[in-house]
Amino acid sequence: MQEFLDSLGQVSAVIGAQWGDEGKGKIVDILAGHFDVVARAAGGANAGHTIVVKGKKQVFRLLPSGCLQENATVVLGSGMVIHLATLLEEIAMLKESGIDILKRLKISDEAHILFDYHKGIDAALEEGSAKTGKQIGTTKRGIGPAYADKAYRTGIRMGRLGEDLESELEERAAHVQKAFGVSVNVAEELKHLQNAEKVFGSCITDTVIDLHEMIADGKTILIEGAQASLLDIDHGTYPYVTSSATTVAGALQGLGLPPQALDTVIGVAKAYCTRVGEGKFPTEADEKTSDRLRERGGEYGATTGRPRRCGWLHIPDLLYSAALNGFTHWNITKLDVLDQEAVIPVGVESDENGEVVFEELPGWKRKTSGITDFEELPEEAQEFLTFIEERTEIPVSFIGTGQGREEMIWRS
Ligand code: IMP
Repeated sequence: MQEFLDSLGQVSAVIGAQWGDEGKGKIVDILAGHFDVVARAAGGANAGHTIVVKGKKQVFRLLPSGCLQENATVVLGSGMVIHLATLLEEIAMLKESGIDILKRLKISDEAHILFDYHKGIDAALEEGSAKTGKQIGTTKRGIGPAYADKAYRTGIRMGRLGEDLESELEERAAHVQKAFGVSVNVAEELKHLQNAEKVFGSCITDTVIDLHEMIADGKTILIEGAQASLLDIDHGTYPYVTSSATTVAGALQGLGLPPQALDTVIGVAKAYCTRVGEGKFPTEADEKTSDRLRERGGEYGATTGRPRRCGWLHIPDLLYSAALNGFTHWNITKLDVLDQEAVIPVGVESDENGEVVFEELPGWKRKTSGITDFEELPEEAQEFLTFIEERTEIPVSFIGTGQGREEMIWRS
């Protein structure tokens, strides 16, 4: 196992290959124990991973899943949009469980502050476009409006925490009210800024320099991608995408690292596929099948609780994600969710009308949950995984067979 871990190199990234919720948190949680640094690069509290902390289920949206590994330095990178109250909550949640993250947390001074009014604008825009059936189905966490402010060059960055921002916020409030009809509680925003400064002001730093120094010191870095490749602002299913670059290139940009720094990229895909929010989903199953997969896989959003749309694996999407990210390994998650399926359809190509062509692989109709050895998997399950390897020419190195940290097959 140590040899395999060493083969991942000094800097490794974990990137979602579908529309998010692939279960990246688990592999990050496992690997983080073997890396010196865990870094998030982009996105904000639209992400959500449920982690069991000392027997208690907790949802983290900003801190990376690796934050529970008490040896790891945790970095929130420059590409992120950070909602202060949410971060305060997560820090407090960890403290309650006896974990003091502040000692090893580094927050980029270049990351943008996501204010409550960004959430207000997100909700107002979604409501407005719902009237014409054009809503994106966002998480309403204010992500788009915060990145819009960044692009307008009107955003406020973490490095300014501690400055007197009252008059600037008053100006923003007047603009937001006029442009979107959203009222801003400036006093409340100022309170969040003060609390944030008090609690984690000392964690704000130039993370680009810090990361480069850590690399020079030989420290190992695990990059935790947020959302997933098909939600990428440039390469995803626009306009039904998030507002950040979710590929490995976006992660490097968000952290200020050059491509040469990267050794390996682990692509994470479910053994089937889900999507939350609007947008195309070529292998979406019929309602009955989708309901069945949702119940077996617990497919409800960690951030919004929304039921996820469910369907089948789509090889062209995996190939596309692999091309965007240069995956060196696959982590196929939630194999056990398919245990009861008699046949497993896999989308393999599109016909001349653009319709998906499926191949039907035999199901295994046996329990795989908890299996940790590839050879012990039913033959049909092995064939299913080999099929993915052959079609994508990328090794399936990690296979999730249950929720628990130990329910994972490692193949070197
Ligand atoms: P936003 O990121 O909240 O603006 O949402 C844009 C789209 O990305 C919506 O379809 C969301 O459901 C989706 N999305 C954003 N973050 C996640 C995630 O972490 N998992 C799954 N879908 C996400």
